[in-house]
Amino acid sequence: METFDADWLTLRERVDHRSRAESLIPPLVEAWETGGWSRVLDLGSGTGSNLRYLAPRLPHGQDWVLLDHDPAHLRTLRELQLPARVRSLTVSEIDLAGHDLSAVTGVHLVTASALLDLTSEGWLDRVVSACAAAGCGVLCALTYNGQIDWSDESSPGSADVDPDHQLVRDAVNRHQRGDKGFGPALGPAAVTVAARRFRVAGYRTTLRESVWRLGAPDRALVDRLIDGWEQAAAAIRPDGATRIRRWADGRRAVVAAGRFRLTVGHHDLLAVPSARV
Ligand SMILES: C[S@@+](CC[C@H](N)C(=O)[O-])C[C@H]1O[C@@H](n2cnc3c(N)ncnc32)[C@H](O)[C@@H]1O
Repeated sequence: METFDADWLTLRERVDHRSRAESLIPPLVEAWETGGWSRVLDLGSGTGSNLRYLAPRLPHGQDWVLLDHDPAHLRTLRELQLPARVRSLTVSEIDLAGHDLSAVTGVHLVTASALLDLTSEGWLDRVVSACAAAGCGVLCALTYNGQIDWSDESSPGSADVDPDHQLVRDAVNRHQRGDKGFGPALGPAAVTVAARRFRVAGYRTTLRESVWRLGAPDRALVDRLIDGWEQAAAAIRPDGATRIRRWADGRRAVVAAGRFRLTVGHHDLLAVPSARV
């Protein structure tokens, strides 16, 4: 079972919201209005970041269902104030990996943020089939795509040619493909696989970058990323433990000095049933 603590979700929310592809909103709203949509299903909702981003951007009269398997997130969600434009909000504790996806039936828009890369090909296929049967639209935001690029103000681009950085990035991306509860995870391949599957199922798809662009004001988030990447890389490459620790200590020093830029690649995917466009 993959868990994400509330502190981490809080740290990333501001960055997630500023990174998301705003250009996907007009075609989404057009499909919403043409189809007379109101019902939204948010998969792996965490503490509601996707709801907080989307609700103000979609028309009035939204009915949301939020699903997550983490009871702590469910408690937070149950205490949420109903956001403006939202008519109803239902939250349910569900393990999506074992769920029959009957929750998709009757829904107009299925959405998820920062979830797709955790899931497997088999699970994604089931989601695509369930969405195609429901004829609903799909918006999957902030899927990690494998790109981690550092540049330090003193020597732009330097960290990317560092062999220790390449070792860590490759190991992290292999770790991303481990089982996160859904079977072997798609990891960095998730967004391209999902776009292809939705196209084959008769969807019109649009992919847009939603890159995290991080600098000194994002230090708390970046420190957590370094910790996570160090652990993930060490689990995949125990033979590289010394290099990984040296890399992490070096990155922490650069971040503490505030002289860095870091980009972490993500993509947003909008899929609209062809019949609706
Ligand atoms: C990276 S977090 C993203 C949360 C939220 N969508 C956001 O953008 O802040 C992934 C979320 O998926 C949930 N999750 C992971 N595996 C799950 C599963 N098998 N069933 C239900 N929820 C799951 C986690 O509890 C977590 O809230």
